[in-house]
Amino acid sequence: TADAPPFAFERNASPIAANERARLLENPGFGRVFTDHMVLIRYTEEKGWHDAKIVPRAPFQMDGASSVLHYAQEIFEGMKAYRLADGSTALFRPEANARRFRDSAIRMAMEPLPEELFLASVRELVKIEQDWIPEAEGGSLYLRPFMIASEVFLGVKPSSEYLYAVIASSVGAYFKAGAGAVSLWVSQDYTRAAPGGTGAAKCGGNYASSLVAQAEATRKGCDQVLFLDAVERRWIEELGGMNIFFVFDDGGLATPPLTGTILPGITRDSILTMARDMGLTVREEPYAIDQCRADAESGRLREAFACGTAAVVAPIGHMKMADGDFTIGSGGPGQTTMRIRDALTSVQRGKLPDPHGWVERI
Ligand code: COI
Repeated sequence: TADAPPFAFERNASPIAANERARLLENPGFGRVFTDHMVLIRYTEEKGWHDAKIVPRAPFQMDGASSVLHYAQEIFEGMKAYRLADGSTALFRPEANARRFRDSAIRMAMEPLPEELFLASVRELVKIEQDWIPEAEGGSLYLRPFMIASEVFLGVKPSSEYLYAVIASSVGAYFKAGAGAVSLWVSQDYTRAAPGGTGAAKCGGNYASSLVAQAEATRKGCDQVLFLDAVERRWIEELGGMNIFFVFDDGGLATPPLTGTILPGITRDSILTMARDMGLTVREEPYAIDQCRADAESGRLREAFACGTAAVVAPIGHMKMADGDFTIGSGGPGQTTMRIRDALTSVQRGKLPDPHGWVERI
């Protein structure tokens, strides 16, 4: 747009060749295939946000005393650009990511990036990297905006300098199982976030602290870890990197409420709205793991699914705990889950009407 901040553009003089790119896009998996360019914007107290540019993607040079490397003052976002049915390219609810990025910055005592600058940076990069959107079903360009504390100082205080960047990655399905059901390991030893902590911020530290529990889940043969609340170790919160929904025998849906310890997922929010549009009853309410197990065994709990930008909607078939396992519904993808998944992905790809104005053509 006319009032977008100017980004200096240095085109990559040796981009990945078209035939190599085509080969990479055939089966990109998640998070290993990267495009030719990246966005960089710097912040200093003297200059404010400045030096906005799009440059060839390359390793950063950093001083070993950069404070992010020691005290983890870092935040990120995850969002996708899709190829629509009519061949155009679109982002899904980018304003929601811009707002959450700002909220995360404030929680981590970082300088908030103006939302317009966030939006312009993502739009500009997508325009340049459109050829990196995989054509295959389920493919998209995953955008990873992030910000790090770049002051060279070992004192513990909010950094006076920041580096904001956006990289882009061509992706397919997050889980190897594709649309099959995933299994969860219920972590009863580790928790993700405590009241007053950083659980609602999208900061790297939340993910770092989830890894030991996620590794335990993998050892137990499960796809993802499920965290319980830190106070009572009883209430279901979320997975290592996704929110969770339940579907009951009366057709209603439930998901844990946003109490400050859960990441406020944009996919979660979109599903709440869409499910209501579909005439389903949706509750945001606490759900205890013991009740979940009892309901799975009695049949009251019919389905469960994980949701997030990366995973989209992933059916949950089994849960494993220290004292036993249980199956949810048939153990496979549930009907309501797949209906919601189809509705969401259809809106995202421009195949269904978009009553809430979520799809932004680039
Ligand atoms: C997402 O983009 O969905 C995330 O939360 C990050 C990670 C699980 C890949």
